[in-house]
Amino acid sequence: MMAANPYQAIESGQPGTIGWRIHYFDEVGSTQRVAADLAGEGAAQGTIVIAERQSAGRGRMGRTWHSPSGVNLYLTIILRPALPIAEVPRLSLVAGVAAAEALESAAPGLVALKWPNDVWLGGRKTGGIIAEAVTDFRQGLRCVLLGIGLNVNLPAADLLPELRDKATSVRIATGRECDRIGLARVLFNRLDSRYMEIERDGFAAIRPAWERYSALTGRRVTVVDGAARIAGVVRGIDAGGALLLDTDTGRARIVTGDVSIEGAYD
Ligand code: BTN
Repeated sequence: MMAANPYQAIESGQPGTIGWRIHYFDEVGSTQRVAADLAGEGAAQGTIVIAERQSAGRGRMGRTWHSPSGVNLYLTIILRPALPIAEVPRLSLVAGVAAAEALESAAPGLVALKWPNDVWLGGRKTGGIIAEAVTDFRQGLRCVLLGIGLNVNLPAADLLPELRDKATSVRIATGRECDRIGLARVLFNRLDSRYMEIERDGFAAIRPAWERYSALTGRRVTVVDGAARIAGVVRGIDAGGALLLDTDTGRARIVTGDVSIEGAYD
């Protein structure tokens, strides 16, 4: 259902910039789905879909993203980058940096990034990012649907019981309500400038910013990817965004997987 759009005030109006046009819905299945349809109709780069609630919010690896109404940010940005498909996952790291920078003013000193795409406040997950490539029949990249979910004003009582020790929101972490529209405005500005930076200078340009927020560097972790499992100490990310691990048998470069920290939450 379409509703009055409180995010209209922060539309930049300049075609191609991130947030130039914001489509707002009370409820959708997933903003990824709505954005895919708009992209198919030719929506320009930088078009955003925001919903108050998702009935079928999608997380990574087929998980669902809990999306209760009126408290959080659920959004998808349509990007049309000139990138090989293999490099699309880097865009979720770019979004991570932008999200961390945007959260810094709402929750100073608490923000961290967990490779590949979790946003943490005070050691608990407050946001998740997904970068889905839409390809044509020749497997050429048509567009990328960059989905961002941030728990903003979710009260502690509304955390799913199984996520109580792992998840948080800006409000839970800081004890303060956060202006969602102001946060979205800063997020889009940061994303626009970080995206322009990598288009101009390549992904490696934002690597130091990502590393500054890295929650994992120096920690012993286990990475699970399907049946494969590898343990080691995190040394950061490489110039392409892969996680660097020092293992018992030498340096490993991890491009996909779920990371858990030994002796910590998950
Ligand atoms: C993850 O951590 O697993 C990624 C979660 C991504 C959630 C966002 S919410 C907005 C967009 N629409 C979706 O259905 N998923 C993403």
